[in-house]
Amino acid sequence: MEGHKNLIGKTAIVTGSARGIGAGIAIDLGKRGANVVVNYTSRRGEVAAAAVSQRIGAGGSKVAAVQANVAVMSDLQKLVDAALAISENAKIDIVVHNAATGDDCYLEDMTERFYEDQTDANLKAPIFLTKLVLPYIAQGGRIVMITSVSARMGIPQQTVYAATKAALEGICKVWATELGKKHGITVNCVSPGPVATDMWTECEPEVVADFQPAINATPAEARVGEVSDIVPIVAFLCSEESRWVTGSVVGASGGMSFI
Ligand SMILES: NC(=O)c1ccc[n+]([C@@H]2O[C@H](COP(=O)([O-])OP(=O)(O)OC[C@H]3O[C@@H](n4cnc5c(N)ncnc54)[C@H](OP(=O)(O)O)[C@@H]3O)[C@@H](O)[C@H]2O)c1
Repeated sequence: MEGHKNLIGKTAIVTGSARGIGAGIAIDLGKRGANVVVNYTSRRGEVAAAAVSQRIGAGGSKVAAVQANVAVMSDLQKLVDAALAISENAKIDIVVHNAATGDDCYLEDMTERFYEDQTDANLKAPIFLTKLVLPYIAQGGRIVMITSVSARMGIPQQTVYAATKAALEGICKVWATELGKKHGITVNCVSPGPVATDMWTECEPEVVADFQPAINATPAEARVGEVSDIVPIVAFLCSEESRWVTGSVVGASGGMSFI
């Protein structure tokens, strides 16, 4: 499916798409012909988002780079407004909930602030962004949430991270039934194992060490994933061909964690 222009005229929002997996997804959806909202939150992301947007625009798709902290409710509307501004039919076809914080914390050190910051970005944001998009969601629309093998691996320091990712996998099944026929959409999760991005390299060293035996035992190949391992799986779930897949969690971990 690489390079196949199967999303011409579609409009996509990819949260957290300046760097890492989100950037790879945004560039790929753009290559496929979709108009794309690229989202970042930090100064670091601003420069990276400009480069991602440049690549998407150079391929002929419309693109909007939007500074929005998805953890802040009032920022979410910016993403919807930007999508409608680049949409050719006032519809939004694809939402990829990718932005997340991966901070690690032992339970002994847990604060309410840590809990709230991580749940706001990883869990509250997908819920309320989806709510804002619903009035504009196109028939044949696609919602994809990027979760993690951490939802079920039991790695120390991942109390909140694991909880938010497992929660999204539960929500995906609720939305598949609640929104599926009503809006003519599918809702799925893609669950990566460790992927070579800034989030992984900035993990606490103990977390990397705790993952190492599982990396060595990964059935497909003993290595961490690359962004290019994840992107085509998301692309499939954004395509028309995935119409009979909904409420699913699709593993993207080389089999590190079976689902
Ligand atoms: N990397 C892994 O090992 C791994 C494994 C399993 C699952 N995942 C999941 O894959 C997704 C992407 O991870 P990644 O590794 O690509 O992360 P990353 O390299 O840290 O990049 C994260 C991107 O999300 C953006 N972002 C973070 N918080 C945001 C917020 N509050 N509002 C808006 N944008 C925000 C960042 O924006 P700025 O550029 O502005 O900072 C950045 O562009 C996440 O859902 C993560 O949980 C990753």
